[in-house]
Amino acid sequence: MTHRILFVCLGNICRSPAAEGVFRALSPETATDSAGTAGWHAGDPPYGPMRQAAKARGVDLSDLRARQFTAGDFDRFDLILGMDDSNIADIEHLRPAGNATPVRLLTDFAPETGADHVPDPYYTRDFDGALDLIEAAAAGLKRHLA
Ligand code: 4NP
Repeated sequence: MTHRILFVCLGNICRSPAAEGVFRALSPETATDSAGTAGWHAGDPPYGPMRQAAKARGVDLSDLRARQFTAGDFDRFDLILGMDDSNIADIEHLRPAGNATPVRLLTDFAPETGADHVPDPYYTRDFDGALDLIEAAAAGLKRHLA
């Protein structure tokens, strides 16, 4: 059984805090966190437009703060979920020798959407499209853990 899940994106201000916020609302018994492969926004709250789009769906992201993903996260979590293939490559680059923690795409848990990544709304500006994918995957992830 998996009980500690880390959501990872590039900046940790749009996709992964949204995924953390959506999933913790759905599964409060699971320990969750999020991180960015880049450290540019460390200490920052989630990006305003993403906070607002999430809030419109009843998901409060205001307590979350960005941090950078580290090699130590492989030992602290049972499952690490990236938003796109670039995240996965950056995560795998830091994997300690002998560590076997699964690293998957979040969209693996939403096969019905046909999506193979969560497009970055920081660039696309499609915050609701990202949240639609994240909500579908969060539901699939919860079913997977049940
Ligand atoms: P995220 O989006 O990876 O979903 O948090 C980004 C946010 C900020 C930047 C890149 C991606 N940035 O370049 O500052």
